[in-house]
Amino acid sequence: KMDFLTDAYGRTIKSLRMSVTDRCNLNCIYCHNEGSKGNTGEMSVETISSIVHVAADFGISRLKISGGEPLLRKDLEDILLALPPLKDVSLTTNGVLLRERARSLKDAGLNRVNISLDSLDEGKYKHITKCKDGTFGKVIEGIHAAVDAGLTPVKLNMVLLKDVNESEVEGMLSFARQFHGGVILQLIQLMDFGDVASYHADVDEVEKELELKAGCVQVRELHHRKKYIIDGAEVEFVKPVDNTEFCANCNRLRVTADGKLRACLLVNDGLVDVSHASVEEMSDLFRLAVSRRVPFYRK
Ligand code: 5AD
Repeated sequence: KMDFLTDAYGRTIKSLRMSVTDRCNLNCIYCHNEGSKGNTGEMSVETISSIVHVAADFGISRLKISGGEPLLRKDLEDILLALPPLKDVSLTTNGVLLRERARSLKDAGLNRVNISLDSLDEGKYKHITKCKDGTFGKVIEGIHAAVDAGLTPVKLNMVLLKDVNESEVEGMLSFARQFHGGVILQLIQLMDFGDVASYHADVDEVEKELELKAGCVQVRELHHRKKYIIDGAEVEFVKPVDNTEFCANCNRLRVTADGKLRACLLVNDGLVDVSHASVEEMSDLFRLAVSRRVPFYRK
């Protein structure tokens, strides 16, 4: 019988979101960098493996690996190979280094990837990510490589940014369409981190417009997400800021790059360090972290 972790508000933890590095090769204007305060310590393959094994013993069957930029870890394949069997292992990446790694990541057990792509206009992409020339092309190649390697469905993360990329939704959908179902567009509401106030776009407005324009729309309520299929291109909205439902349905526990369990991306206190714990101690520390979960995040 599985010993699940359920918090004081009835939410059972089903998924682990783990940062494996705070380092990044881009510097996006809006990035929350998983709330990192610039920690440099990174977990070993063994520590990561232990944490995910303990999580799996609690029935947590989904893992999302994030960063920083997780592909900056050369041992990412070793990390994947050291994991227990899980229902779903995915990775959030900026895609810059993905072309060379897609096949080996798939072979090591990765199921699928989310790739951050906020613009199809190279100039805008450079403005948003502060990248060098040539980087945008690598990301596009990375997307193709991910689809070819079967890391599907590939989700393209597009954070809606006022006066920057709001007008690009149709273009993104056309781009996604060429992959014949292999690529899903994920439109994300900007969360407030640092100095991003001027970029807040009206996501509901974009959603309404899309609904009106679309010839064929299917709406499916999936947890807190709405999915539309528009002429064969799938798009989903993620709206963490209008957060009542988002938080009410939250089934995630996070792990920082330096091995601390964290109840919520936006809560910085009460982190529980498991980086030096034995497997036995870890179980209790998981229970402690989950007991510290709050009903809604504090803005
Ligand atoms: N608001 C919303 N999403 C964000 N991400 C990073 N910073 C923010 C923010 N301020 C998400 C994006 C990006 C991924 C790496 O993290 O989806 O693609």
